[in-house]
Amino acid sequence: MIDALHIPDFPMQRTCPFDPPQEYAKLRVEHPVSQVRAPTGQIAWLVTRYEDIRMLLNDPRVSADRRHPNMPLTEEVTPQTRRNIAEVGRSLIGLDRPEHGPRRKMLMAEFTVRRMAAMRPHIQHTADELIDAMLAGPREVDLLTALALPTPTRTLCELLGLSYDARDIIQRSANAQLRRSVSAEERQQTSAELRAYVDQVVREKTAAPTDEDLLGRLVLSNRETGLYDHELMVGLTMLLLVAGHETTASMIALGVTGLLQQPEKIPGIVADPAAAAAAVEELLRYFTVVDALPRVAVGDIEVGGVTIRADEGILLSFASANWDDEAFPDAATLDLARPARKHLAFGYGIHQCIGQNLAREELHIVFRTLFSRIPTLRLGADLDDLPFKKDSNIYGIDALPVTW
Ligand code: HEM
Repeated sequence: MIDALHIPDFPMQRTCPFDPPQEYAKLRVEHPVSQVRAPTGQIAWLVTRYEDIRMLLNDPRVSADRRHPNMPLTEEVTPQTRRNIAEVGRSLIGLDRPEHGPRRKMLMAEFTVRRMAAMRPHIQHTADELIDAMLAGPREVDLLTALALPTPTRTLCELLGLSYDARDIIQRSANAQLRRSVSAEERQQTSAELRAYVDQVVREKTAAPTDEDLLGRLVLSNRETGLYDHELMVGLTMLLLVAGHETTASMIALGVTGLLQQPEKIPGIVADPAAAAAAVEELLRYFTVVDALPRVAVGDIEVGGVTIRADEGILLSFASANWDDEAFPDAATLDLARPARKHLAFGYGIHQCIGQNLAREELHIVFRTLFSRIPTLRLGADLDDLPFKKDSNIYGIDALPVTW
C-alpha cells in the first residue's frame, strides 16, 4: 500500500499534452483504488479502473451531495465559494436519489433529441458566420477565440434565451471557476459576478416567461411542479452555463488539434456523417476533458481490494477509465474509427451529462464545417509549444494558432 506519509497530491500532472497523467496507468494495475491529497488538504480515494468507476456510479452508497464536508474539491475555495458550490449542486448535480429524479426529469424535457435537432440550424449558422469572419481576415487566427469559445457561448445563449452581450461575463466566470491557479478570492468574485447577472435574468424570465427559450419554459413548467424556487433556478442556470460552455469549447480546440495529427483521415470525416460521429466519440474518449468527479461514500463499500468507509471522499478518474486497456484495447492510440461510444467522457449513471447530445451536435457540425470550408487548415505552431492548460479542472488549450 502507499505510505500514509507520502500520499500523492491530486490532481496529478500531465507530462505529454495528449496523455492523462502517467501515474494512472501504474495505479490501474497496482493500486486501482488509492489515497490522494486534494488541494484543500482533504484525503480522498482515487478510483482509476473503468469497471470500478461504473460500478460506483450505479451504487446508491455513493453520494454527489456537495454539502458534505468531506466532498473532495480539486481547487482551493473560500467558505463562501464552498457554499456557492453546494447551492449550485442542490439544483441538480449534487442531488442524490430520490430527489434527483424529478428535477432531472423536468430538465430532460429540454434536452430531447427533437429539441437538440432543432438547435442544428442555429449551430450551423453560428459556425458558418464565425468561419466567414476567419476567412475575411489574415490567414493566421487563434481558433480558440475565433471559433471554439464563441460556438458554445452563442449556442447556450440561444438555448437559454440570454443576450449574447453576456458572453464576457459567462466566459470569464466559467474560466475562473475551473482554474486552480486563480486565487480563491478571484474565483469567489467572478462567481458572484455571474450569480448577480443570472439572478437578474431569472427575475426577468419569471416576470414574463415565454415558451421560446429554455429558461422561460422551465419557469412555466415549474409553476405546475413547484420543484424550483428562485435560488434553485439561479443555481441551475449557473450550472448549465458553467457545465455547457468550457467543456465544449475545450473539446472543439483539442478535437481540431487531434484531427490535425491524422490529416489523411479528415476528408473521410468531412464526407461521411457516420465517420464524423465515430470520430467525435473517439475524440471525447481520448481527451476526456472532465477528469475527476467528486463523490462521498455514505456506507462502507468494497472496491478494487480496499474498503471505502462511510463519509470518506472519492475521486473518480474518467480520464483514467477512458484509457483503461481492459475497456478500450490499445487505449492510448487515437483511432478515429474505433467504436468508442461506451466511454465515460460524459460520466455515467444518474448524473450522466444532460447536455451530451447538444455537445455532440456542436462538435459534429464544427469539425465538418471547418475542414470542408478550410481543407488546408494546419497548426500555426509546433504541437509541443501550444499552451495546454495545466491548472484547469477542464482540460484544454489557452490559445490555438492555426493557418491555411
Ligand atoms: C463536451 C462537452 C461536455 C462534457 C465533456 C461534459 C461532461 C459532463 C460530465 C462528466 C458530467 C457528469 C458529472 C457528474 O457525474 O458529477 C456532466 C454532467 C452535466 N452536464 Fe455536461 N458535459 C459537456 C457538455 C454539456 C452541455 C453542452 C450542457 C448543457 C448545456 C451540460 C450540462 C450538464 C449538466 C446539467 C450536468 C449534470 C447532470 C445531472 O446531475 O443530472 N454539459 N457533464
